[in-house]
Amino acid sequence: MIFFILNGKTVNYEGDPERTLLDFLRLDLHITSPKDGCSGQATCGACTVEIDKKAKLACAIKMKKLEGTEVLTMEGFPEYVRDTIAKAYVNKGAVQCGFCTPGFISRTKILLQENPNPTLQEIQNALKQHLCRCTGYKKIEEAILLAAEKIRNNEQLEITKTSGKIGISHPKYNSYETAVGKHNFVDDIYLDEMLFAALKFSDHPKAKILIINTEKASQLEGVHRIFTAGDIPGERKVGLIYQDWPVMIGTGETTHYIGDVIAGVVADSDEIARKALSLINIEYEVYSPVSDVFWL
Ligand code: FES
Ligand code: FES
Repeated sequence: MIFFILNGKTVNYEGDPERTLLDFLRLDLHITSPKDGCSGQATCGACTVEIDKKAKLACAIKMKKLEGTEVLTMEGFPEYVRDTIAKAYVNKGAVQCGFCTPGFISRTKILLQENPNPTLQEIQNALKQHLCRCTGYKKIEEAILLAAEKIRNNEQLEITKTSGKIGISHPKYNSYETAVGKHNFVDDIYLDEMLFAALKFSDHPKAKILIINTEKASQLEGVHRIFTAGDIPGERKVGLIYQDWPVMIGTGETTHYIGDVIAGVVADSDEIARKALSLINIEYEVYSPVSDVFWL
């Protein structure tokens, strides 16, 4: 049994000690403010939580490490601090898709409790473990400076109201809910008896697929279905301008990059789906990758 405090409540965990805190929070408790942005590679910061007053990546923390600790997710942050930081992010335009934002806001909260008046350089250092693919970091830095000022002076911050006219910048729709982790991304939706899917990507950037053997994977308990290119009827190529991107690569075809999908598994749980992926055996004829480098 592993005992710890989560958002002020005692947890007695009896499950797999090797499981990650992120899986426990998201899959068991449906606490979805920590996001799974890189599937446990500890490279994106989207899963940042507070453990014993320090910022930690929940995807890299095993449950066995939590004994006696105090864990806080954004849901357990003091309301004033969480709201002020979130509103600063909204007002500065630092929330775009918002998938990364709860992680950034958790980092901001921990930074400001250690250093209420950070310099720009200190903010940039604190954000080194975080990736944002759509906002750009300048707006986030501005938001942190604004939040720091408001919290230092114990002032309230309200979301900017605008006339609603064309030509005026408005806070992004739903950005506050997104910032505090209440917006449901697809990965945050849990339904009774829902199934989970995982994709098998190519092991080589350029290789001909000779054989896809799914027999072992399909025998794993909890696996409902494995699909490959052969299961997709009709045209498999998609694209905005030219339809030249195959959604799956089939036997006898050649991959273009390691993001090409070769098989998909549907299973009772995320864990089973990912385990089944590891049992899919693919034989390739491997070629040298083709790459173009443009020097500007
Ligand atoms: S999900 Fe933890 S760092 Fe990306
Ligand atoms: S706002 Fe989209 S990834 Fe950061």
